[in-house]
Amino acid sequence: MSRPESYSFQRYLAAKERVDDRALHRPTLDELTADLAEIADRRGDVRVLDVGGGLGSMLRRLLDWNRLPDRVSYTLVDRDESTLGRGYERCVDWARDAGYAVDEGSGGDEGDADADLLLSTGTERIAVSLVAADAFDLLADAEATWDLVVAAAFLDIVELNRALPLVFSALADGGRWYFPVTFDGETGFAPTPDPELEARVVDAYHETMDAPERPGGSRTGRELLATVPEFGGEILSAGGSDWVVTTPYAGDEAYFLHHLLSFFDDAVGGTGEIDRFDAWVDERHAAVERGELSLVAHHLDVYGRC
Ligand SMILES: C[S@@+](CC[C@H](N)C(=O)[O-])C[C@H]1O[C@@H](n2cnc3c(N)ncnc32)[C@H](O)[C@@H]1O
Repeated sequence: MSRPESYSFQRYLAAKERVDDRALHRPTLDELTADLAEIADRRGDVRVLDVGGGLGSMLRRLLDWNRLPDRVSYTLVDRDESTLGRGYERCVDWARDAGYAVDEGSGGDEGDADADLLLSTGTERIAVSLVAADAFDLLADAEATWDLVVAAAFLDIVELNRALPLVFSALADGGRWYFPVTFDGETGFAPTPDPELEARVVDAYHETMDAPERPGGSRTGRELLATVPEFGGEILSAGGSDWVVTTPYAGDEAYFLHHLLSFFDDAVGGTGEIDRFDAWVDERHAAVERGELSLVAHHLDVYGRC
């Protein structure tokens, strides 16, 4: 595809779904699945809060991959109302295609009457609520409420030391947390015509993530490994969930790469710190257009309890 004239974050999130699908660390998902089944045996249902849930990609994925128990209350919170709205539509379309009966606008009569969507089959009952709010506000009001808190591709853009204690105190007794696709400080492109320039650009990009005035950080993945125990958490499983995008591009992955390069442009382009940055970014976009550019970006999935 040719270089886009404008960018849509929702399109980026949609394109990211299949990249994440490939990346997610399966042994960690296996542990999560087994633990949720055990919680459901004990309680009858499972209450999930997905913070910074975006388009609801993780909800659809977990259902599609049979990773959730039959009875779930799943709450998506995101501060971007329009992204949540698009997530609602995608969830309805996906659920219908997947054979769920979809009850829009109301939950049922089993304690989920406030849900926005009820997805059901002969055996499953998934009540979905979408909340347009700041995740930190919602977590602060959620003392010991949730059986699972999901934060996917989220902790690397917020203040970790603020988020972790709020997530942990929002968990019900025996609850779990799941932090997949947390960025961990490595980005690489191939081919690399000018390795020295490329290294300077990538380092500068990561440095912008670590700027003191900006929440989040480029090494949040491995920071979690040390910080989780400091806040009283226990890691049950962790593993790499690297994005690997190669040619020929599948789905909307050419757009995904163009959008990722626009992040570099936004972060590094205006600073004037890197000579020949504009030439670098133009060449990288052109390499996507030619179907030649590959990407590797390192992430960690970290999962546990308190
Ligand atoms: C990188 S996206 C990840 C979306 C989704 N979890 C996924 O993996 O596709 C981060 C999301 O977090 C949301 N977000 C960022 N800060 C937030 C906050 N303080 N409260 C709620 N949502 C937030 C953004 O609107 C965005 O949708």
